[in-house]
Amino acid sequence: MTPLIAPSVLAADFANLQRDIEMINRSQADWIHFDVMDGRFVPNISIGVPVCEAVNRHAQKPIDVHLMIVQPEHYLEAFQKAGAGIISVHYEACPHLHRVLDQIRKLGCRAGVAINPHTPVNNLEEIIAEADLVNVMSVNPGFGGQKFITATLDKVARLKELILRRRSAALIEIDGGVNQDNAAALLAAGADVLVAGNFVFSASQPEQVIAALKKTVVTREV
Ligand code: DX5
Ligand code: ZN
Repeated sequence: MTPLIAPSVLAADFANLQRDIEMINRSQADWIHFDVMDGRFVPNISIGVPVCEAVNRHAQKPIDVHLMIVQPEHYLEAFQKAGAGIISVHYEACPHLHRVLDQIRKLGCRAGVAINPHTPVNNLEEIIAEADLVNVMSVNPGFGGQKFITATLDKVARLKELILRRRSAALIEIDGGVNQDNAAALLAAGADVLVAGNFVFSASQPEQVIAALKKTVVTREV
């Protein structure tokens, strides 16, 4: 199985955003991961709707918007209009998650649920059939460049079981600290989409790093 690769704009050079989006366009990347932080759900503030519009003016690949914000339902339409193809909201930020996923799909976007490292996979039991994507956070959300939490591997394997048991079509996306050392094990555990920020953008040849992630060979099926 070939993974989908989603470079995270959070690690791009914001003063050279067009250059970095064009690099993603030329590369073998599949999606453009776009991290939105509000200083409330997470202890950091990043980028929002106007920057998403700017990215969309140059992007030739779907924009995968990851909302690390409280009350994400207030911003879904704005991000859809700004070019989002996929919108993920946090399980921990949505008391009415079922409704929010419905709203995302009605806007014509794919609907994702993101879960923090401490949130059990079992909590998705009743919602997994409604999700197009589950973003499994493999770091505590809020910052790029953090160390991958190894326990994510086991979590991904259990999420894959849940998806199969519930006959869900949800893709599993891994977000945080992804690199060449953990990519193969993540795919073996059941991951479909690899987000990579610093690993891509800190490289001198980011297109080659993306190509290498895309070619990750799965050595073991779980
Ligand atoms: C973290 C963000 C991630 C981040 C990943 O809160 O959701 O998408 O950009 O960056 P790296 O790959 O550097 O951990
Ligand atoms: Zn993210």
